[in-house]
Amino acid sequence: MLFLQIPLLVVLLGGGDSEDAFQDQIFRIISTFSLHNHSWTQTWISAWLGELQIKSWKRNSSDFISLRPWSNGNFSKKEMTEVKDLIERTNHEFLHLLHIHASEWMLEYPFDIQGTVGCELHSGEIKIDFWRVAYQGSEILSFQNSSWVPYLKGGTRAQKMCKVLNRYIVFNKVIKWRFSNTCSRFLLGLLDAGKADFQRKVKPEAWLSTGPSPGPHHLLLVCHVSGFYPKPISVMWMRGEQAQQASQQSDILPNADGTWYLQSYLDVEATKTSGLSCRVTHSSLEGQDIILYLDRPTSEGLIILAVMVPLVLLLTGLAFWLKKGWTHCEPPPTLLSLE
Ligand SMILES: *[C@@H]1O[C@H](CO)[C@@H](O)[C@H](O)[C@H]1NC(C)=O
Repeated sequence: MLFLQIPLLVVLLGGGDSEDAFQDQIFRIISTFSLHNHSWTQTWISAWLGELQIKSWKRNSSDFISLRPWSNGNFSKKEMTEVKDLIERTNHEFLHLLHIHASEWMLEYPFDIQGTVGCELHSGEIKIDFWRVAYQGSEILSFQNSSWVPYLKGGTRAQKMCKVLNRYIVFNKVIKWRFSNTCSRFLLGLLDAGKADFQRKVKPEAWLSTGPSPGPHHLLLVCHVSGFYPKPISVMWMRGEQAQQASQQSDILPNADGTWYLQSYLDVEATKTSGLSCRVTHSSLEGQDIILYLDRPTSEGLIILAVMVPLVLLLTGLAFWLKKGWTHCEPPPTLLSLE
C-alpha cells in the first residue's frame, strides 16, 4: 500500500483547501460490534468529522470521551446524553436482532459488524443522511429513503437481513427521522465550533533518509514530510528544475495530533545522486517551498546519506569483486549476505 504509484504532477494543489473543507463536512458515528459468541459482544463507538476522530466511547460506559475541545458542537450536556441514549438504544436493538437471527443470516461466530450513521453537507445546504451496515469489513446494506437495501456483494445474506430489518417499519422510520434531525443540527454546530481548528495552517517538517537498497548499485532516497495541516500537499523529487517522474509516494497518514505525514521515494543509481532535491509545497508555507538538497549539508538525513552512499558503493564493489575473483571457490558464509 505504501508504494502506491502516484503520478507526481497529479498533486492536490490549488483547490486543495476547498477539498479539505468538503472532507470536514461529513459527520459519522461508527459502531463496531465484535460478536464472540451468543452471549458475549464487545462494542466500540466512535464519532468522526471527516477524517478526524472527535469522540470515542464504549457501550455501557458512563460517558463519551471527547477528543477535541469543540466535539460537542453547540449541543448542551442534556442533548448529548439524548444522542448517546438514542445510539445505545438503536445499537441494543440491532445487536439483539443479530443474535437471534445469526444462523438465519449465516453469521458465524466470531464475527464483526459495523454500523455507520451520519450526514453530509454539500455547498452548505443539501444534507445527505446515510446509514450503512458492514459485515467482516465490507458494506452489505444501506438504508435508503425508508427501507433497507442490500448491496450486490452482500449476496443472499444481505437480502435476508434486509427482509427482516424491513419488517420494523415504525422503528426504522422513527430512528431515521430522529437521526436526520439531530445529525444535521449537530454537524452545523460542529463546523462552527471547530472552525478555528479546521482553518489552522501548520507547517510541515521535512527530512531525508535512505531506505532499503532496491538493488545492486541503487539507492532508495526517502523524503519524509510530517506535521502539516491541512492535508493537501505536494512533495516532489527534483533534479534541478526537473520533477522526477519515477518517484513514488506513500499514502498520506494521520499523526496522533490531527496533522499529516507522508513519504516520497526515489530509486536512483548510486552514482547519479547529484543535483537531486526534495521539494515540498504546502499552503502553510505561503509560497516559500521547503527544498532539501541531497548534496548540500542542510539536514541530518545528509549525514546518513554521506555515510550510506560510499558504503553502498564500497559493499557492492566488494561483492562484485569477490564474486568475480572467487567463482571457482566456495564463498565463505559471511559473504552470502552480500549477494
Ligand atoms: C463467550 O466468549 C467469552 C470471551 O471469549 C468467553 O469468556 C465465554 O465463556 C463465552 N461464552 C460461551 C457461552 O461460550
